[in-house]
Amino acid sequence: MTVRTKLIAGVALAAASLGLASLGLAGAAQAQTKEVQMLHWWTSGGEAAALSVLKKDLAAEGYAWKDVPVAGGGGDAAMTALKAMVANGNNPTASQMLGYTVLDYAAAGKMGDLTELAKSEGWDKVVPAPLQKFAVSDGKWVAVPVNVHSVNWLWINKAVMDKIGGTEPKTFDDFIALLDKAKAAGVTPLALGGQDWQEATMFDSVVLSTGGPEFYKKAMNDLDEASLKSDTMKKAFDNLAKLKAYVDPNFSGRDWNLTTAMVIKGDALVQVMGDWAKGEFKAASKTPGTDYICMRFPGTDGSVVYNSDMFGMFAVPDDRKEAQVALAKATLSKSFQSSFNVVKGSVPARTDVPDTDFDACGKKGIADLKKANDGGTLFGSLAQGYGAPPAIATAYKDVVDKFFNGQIKTSDEAVAQLVKAIDEAK
Ligand code: BGC
Repeated sequence: MTVRTKLIAGVALAAASLGLASLGLAGAAQAQTKEVQMLHWWTSGGEAAALSVLKKDLAAEGYAWKDVPVAGGGGDAAMTALKAMVANGNNPTASQMLGYTVLDYAAAGKMGDLTELAKSEGWDKVVPAPLQKFAVSDGKWVAVPVNVHSVNWLWINKAVMDKIGGTEPKTFDDFIALLDKAKAAGVTPLALGGQDWQEATMFDSVVLSTGGPEFYKKAMNDLDEASLKSDTMKKAFDNLAKLKAYVDPNFSGRDWNLTTAMVIKGDALVQVMGDWAKGEFKAASKTPGTDYICMRFPGTDGSVVYNSDMFGMFAVPDDRKEAQVALAKATLSKSFQSSFNVVKGSVPARTDVPDTDFDACGKKGIADLKKANDGGTLFGSLAQGYGAPPAIATAYKDVVDKFFNGQIKTSDEAVAQLVKAIDEAK
């Protein structure tokens, strides 16, 4: 049996809809059934390198790739484009999506159903439960997790660190002392791109560091109002304000990957960013330990604030389902989960993938995820779509951005605005 006939034989839905006779279809119809149309925001060097691993795997199985890239880290622009496509009945085979967005589309009846494949592949036994919460809706598999990213990381240029005589900061105060050291040495201390999602992604870590794991969960996942307006939350905003003193004058609006490049080149000491930043270091042939240091955001060791790129599988006409099934199967295969995530900077979305091919940061990421998942310290990133539904995440990013850029002036006002904005978005 060829891979393709095996696939069709194994999936009743595809077999029923295509019928083996349709394998003989010629010309345009065949091209369409053998095509994967994918919407995503993976346009940086590291992201593109990771995506080409998938394109190659699918090409080897005979599937064409129709790329629908929508640039813009954090995915807001991509999600606007997706909304328009789906509203026009122009569903992609799949789209990169973050947690709660998948559930929104599923509730609106827009997603396909991969349950049969999930059963034959045993996904429920290998995909971590927190991810299944977002990939399965109403008992049906509607999305496939590609990876697990986490946001509470520092990415430090090693040569700059050595030059300024810095040591790895253990606490938030140590972090400030390190940034001061860089500033005194005339180096840009903190590489930050001034876009709401980058600021909010950094703030996720600041909240965890300031309040600890219990507090993070209550405020950022349970949206507990008392926590959101507490003194601890105010202190988190005050800590965020401190970081503002260490960014360069051109930070406003800068893309995240250009910001990572500042650290890669030694133009800045450190970036606080999800581990997609590591994909950029890898694409630039940099080695952890030698060229750069990856460590958890000071004061967050033991906890992991995660997001996961899901491929949301849309409802598509019968003649496009075979390609969708092939995409889903390839995405969650053990070998792909290793080869893709080694390049992407993330870690596998299955618990049974060996860490052999991963570098030191990847090995740490895999071990940290397991420990946090076992120990109850794995939390969804609010900035990255895993803390609350999209409207609330948007409200959060907006308040953080206004505070960071001075339109909201005090931490008192910030928590009041946050509570109000979240309430209105509910
Ligand atoms: C995604 C990553 C991506 C990053 C920057 C995040 O929301 O989860 O896969 O690399 O945005 O584009």
